[in-house]
Amino acid sequence: MDRQRLGVNIDHVATIRNARGGDTPDPVRAALMAQAAGADGITAHLREDRRHIRDADMAAIADAIDIPLNFEMAATEEMARIATATKPHAVCLVPERREERTTEGGLDVAADANRLTGYVAPLADMGARVSLFIASDPRQIEAASRVGAAVVELHTGTYCDAVAEGRTDDAEAELERLIAGAAQAHDLGLEVHAGHGITYDSVTPLAAIPQVVELNIGHFIIGEAVFRGLPDALAEMRRLMDTARVQM
Ligand code: PXP
Repeated sequence: MDRQRLGVNIDHVATIRNARGGDTPDPVRAALMAQAAGADGITAHLREDRRHIRDADMAAIADAIDIPLNFEMAATEEMARIATATKPHAVCLVPERREERTTEGGLDVAADANRLTGYVAPLADMGARVSLFIASDPRQIEAASRVGAAVVELHTGTYCDAVAEGRTDDAEAELERLIAGAAQAHDLGLEVHAGHGITYDSVTPLAAIPQVVELNIGHFIIGEAVFRGLPDALAEMRRLMDTARVQM
């Protein structure tokens, strides 16, 4: 099977920086270190409330790295303007609620299809690969293909939570949903990514889904980096992904 890309989300380096209000740790340094350690892309989420990544971070990361930047954002007019100025390789549209701790669910593309069609087109026209972060639900996948997205990122949070909590049957059922969704999306001509909540314990079955060409992983890698350093934390994730692909 083809090598799967690893996108590293560096938001939580900014979370730690913002806890003290100064300049360190610097998310640009983390992005460059992840790039040097073999990341295939850098993902950063400019949230409406700027709780971690800020506008200046996004511009500085885009300037500094040579690998693709995946700009995660809500589908708002403000973010469309910033993305247009930043010109990232990819834009990943996610739902956002101010009170949530992290991106809790997928986009309801089916309910918002008309608006999203008009939102996706100019971003795609400027050359960005537009991705929609969705649950592995046949209706949402079909809608994603209708609104003109090039990519879907399947939300792996429910699966990863079930693995972390030892709920084996739930994990198995959720994994089946992700496998079916990846096949459906691929058959519709969409590129398939996956992400959210992935750890060393949950990555292998996800890395083994043949249609999934990219995983986006953040919180766990940044947390693990505290103990073993970012290059080593990332290298271990890379090793698990490569092993899963070879075993297929
Ligand atoms: N993919 C998307 C679309 C996300 O919103 C996030 C979280 O910002 C991730 C991947 C990474 O999730 P985590 O930080 O849990 O690895």
